[in-house]
Amino acid sequence: MREMSHPHLPSHLTRLAQRYGRIYTLRCGNSRDLVSGGGCSVSLGDYSQPWRAQRRLVHGALQRCSHTALHSTIQRQALLLREESQVLIGYNGSAVDLSEDFTVAASNVITMLMFEKEYDKESAELQRLHSCLNKIVSLWGSPWISALDSFPLLRKLPNRPFSRLLEEVARRDDIIGTLLKEFKLTDTHLHMATVDLLIGGTETTAAWLNWAVAFLLHRPQVQSRVYEEMCEVLEDRYPTYSDRYRLPILSALISEVLRMRPVAPLAVPHRALRDSSIAGYFIPKDTVIIPNLFGAHHDPAVWSEPYSFRPERFLEAGGGCARSLLAFGGGARLCLGEAVAKMELFLFTAYLLRDFQFVSCGKEASLPDLMGEASVVLKVKSYQVIAVPRPDGPNQDRAEDHRTHQN
Ligand code: HEM
Repeated sequence: MREMSHPHLPSHLTRLAQRYGRIYTLRCGNSRDLVSGGGCSVSLGDYSQPWRAQRRLVHGALQRCSHTALHSTIQRQALLLREESQVLIGYNGSAVDLSEDFTVAASNVITMLMFEKEYDKESAELQRLHSCLNKIVSLWGSPWISALDSFPLLRKLPNRPFSRLLEEVARRDDIIGTLLKEFKLTDTHLHMATVDLLIGGTETTAAWLNWAVAFLLHRPQVQSRVYEEMCEVLEDRYPTYSDRYRLPILSALISEVLRMRPVAPLAVPHRALRDSSIAGYFIPKDTVIIPNLFGAHHDPAVWSEPYSFRPERFLEAGGGCARSLLAFGGGARLCLGEAVAKMELFLFTAYLLRDFQFVSCGKEASLPDLMGEASVVLKVKSYQVIAVPRPDGPNQDRAEDHRTHQN
């Protein structure tokens, strides 16, 4: 229990791996039950026949979003970040925390795909939804909640974070229920699939964008190289997703940020449904397995200088190390939104870096803390950044023209 309440759990578990080997057991009380064994949810539900059917349903629905629709939805949000509602341009060179803007952009991609609904940053409905999802994600990571996995009896005792989690879950269900009623959908599985996509698709992408800017503030040379590459390859237009192979430096940056700070650092807990084995170690039925993706991304046997931010590693030796990236997990529980997320990371980063130079507020001390705060989602601590518009950024008309050339 003490181990699981560490303030930066992924790094702590990575240190334990250095001491005890890549696979080790943590004993947390006697019970192996997960408190969050999430009922009808894809992300927290146990592997079973109905779970497989539900995952197939959500996966199929995501695949049916045509490439073009997804592409233009993300492009639109990237452009909205720039100027249509004067977001970054409107900050006029002042130092600001961009995390909320990134969250609005990421969640609009998901609500557009699901409901064709886009929110303004000021929308009261959006504020309600975000504050609720945000609280749920941070309460999930609380040691007082994790303790209930191992000691279910504690649920009977007063536990403020647990009561707050239940309150937030009730609020969440109310908001999602209203959305589904609007579309005349009431099924419980659908309800939870909506929760999965909103939580999985908003917090992660927004957290990743915040990490990318934070790393670029520490390494401005990388930002310049990405910008120069885009100017050279794209000349005066905005990129499309099909340009990713022609922009290796940008792609390497995206991979390196995913490696350094996998935003779901401990994936989701997996449970062994029967006696099994991993790498020759016996795993008894019902053991909860925590895949430490953060640890795998910092394993010196796989990565040279694993703690250094070096996007160029993905350009060396034909970029072979990309195969060792596990930021989206693997196997039966692989991230359902991987394809959506990859397109989002590429287009948002490309558009932002094409139009803006991100600079820190001047003092060395104001550079973002790169350790971050680890909960279910690994987030960078709040920091301020100045978005300076590039004088020669492409204009809106060229972006419109270019939309017709996507594939
Ligand atoms: C930077 C972006 C993202 C990263 C790094 C990420 C990473 C992950 C990881 C590591 C898992 C757990 C996999 C495992 O346990 O093996 C996961 C699960 C999941 N993700 Fe993502 N994700 C991202 C974006 C998204 C987006 C945009 C969506 C929705 C469109 C999404 C939806 C989901 C869902 C529904 C699950 C649960 C899958 C299951 O349990 O079967 N994710 N994600």
